[in-house]
Amino acid sequence: FTVDWDIATAEKAGFDHFMLKEIHEQPKAYRDTMGSRLSPDGSRVVLKELTMTEQQIRDIRNVHIVACGTAYHAGLIGKTVIEQLARIPVETDVASEYRYRSPIITPNTLVIVVSQSGETADTLAALREAKRCGAHVLAITNVVGSSVAREADDVLFTWAGPEIAVASTKAYTTQLVAFYLFGLHLAQVLGTKDEAFIRDMIAAMKSLPEQVEAILGQSEAIKAAAEDMSKHDDLFFIGRGVDYAVSLEGSLKLKEISYIHSEAYAAGELKHGTLALIEENVPVIALATQEDLLEKTVSNIKEVTARGGKVLGITSERYAQELAKSVNTVFTIPQTHALLTPALAVIPLQLLAYYASLARGNDVDKPRNLAKSVTVE
Ligand code: G6P
Repeated sequence: FTVDWDIATAEKAGFDHFMLKEIHEQPKAYRDTMGSRLSPDGSRVVLKELTMTEQQIRDIRNVHIVACGTAYHAGLIGKTVIEQLARIPVETDVASEYRYRSPIITPNTLVIVVSQSGETADTLAALREAKRCGAHVLAITNVVGSSVAREADDVLFTWAGPEIAVASTKAYTTQLVAFYLFGLHLAQVLGTKDEAFIRDMIAAMKSLPEQVEAILGQSEAIKAAAEDMSKHDDLFFIGRGVDYAVSLEGSLKLKEISYIHSEAYAAGELKHGTLALIEENVPVIALATQEDLLEKTVSNIKEVTARGGKVLGITSERYAQELAKSVNTVFTIPQTHALLTPALAVIPLQLLAYYASLARGNDVDKPRNLAKSVTVE
């Protein structure tokens, strides 16, 4: 009698791939990253680990967020979060571009570097350049003791646990949580949001883990859509505002592991060129989670369906009926605060990429040509 097992199988804890395991670990990763950083009465964010004083925060004139790949996409959401919550101007750059565009960094610039591994060469070089110019550097990273964590002035760790799959999932979503926490911290110090707003947003954040569970419960339907998508060679993602930033991440995830070509567009930009590529049966994934942008996004969706494109819509429960009138299929995410929708809307996109990769027979956890951590510039 023999039992076949190896360490990798054991570590996958019953899941077929690390990526699927890590997708399913997101509720826990959310809880761990928020954990002790929310006051027990749910009224405040408490970031004890930060050395930045309230005066240093009041002196911030602008924020630069610098990162690569998926972490860059988290940084795009971070820009909206910080601008909305703290009313400080934010620019987000890919690290390989940042140094070479001669960025205007002053001692009143806060530079936030985002890196799952904390070892990405371009991100580390950007951090060093920011420090050379006298900026305060805050790192958001998942790895304690990493180069980025050691060299930054301040660190907010994401408590996602080890991420093995090359395609990042729980590291990205916990980076979003780090931005929510930091944005609220800034708002508390600067007084840009009142207590009721902060309380409401914290309550909504606390619901995220169980809301992710609810989305994971729709996996079978998402799998069926992914199998259909896997037969196509090109597809498009559209969205506005934070939905656009999530679209970029959904598109990257799909490219990385399914090798299906896809592009993400700001929904209103589609008609300025890319609409020429929409013809009968071209799949388009449309994110429409934002109430104030819903009508506009729906009109962009109609530009697609009028040309025969097949639209899969992703929206919040409250708008599902409305969106269903103009798309072929709808996936819903539970209702949450407008700034928090990315933390939910990305989950079906991760699953779509996973199941499309699986349907194509690819090596999900180790996609061709890619490395988990890129330590060369
Ligand atoms: C590599 C990985 C990506 C990751 C990027 C940045 O390209 O394949 O998944 O987003 O590096 O990595 P970092 O560790 O800095 O977040």
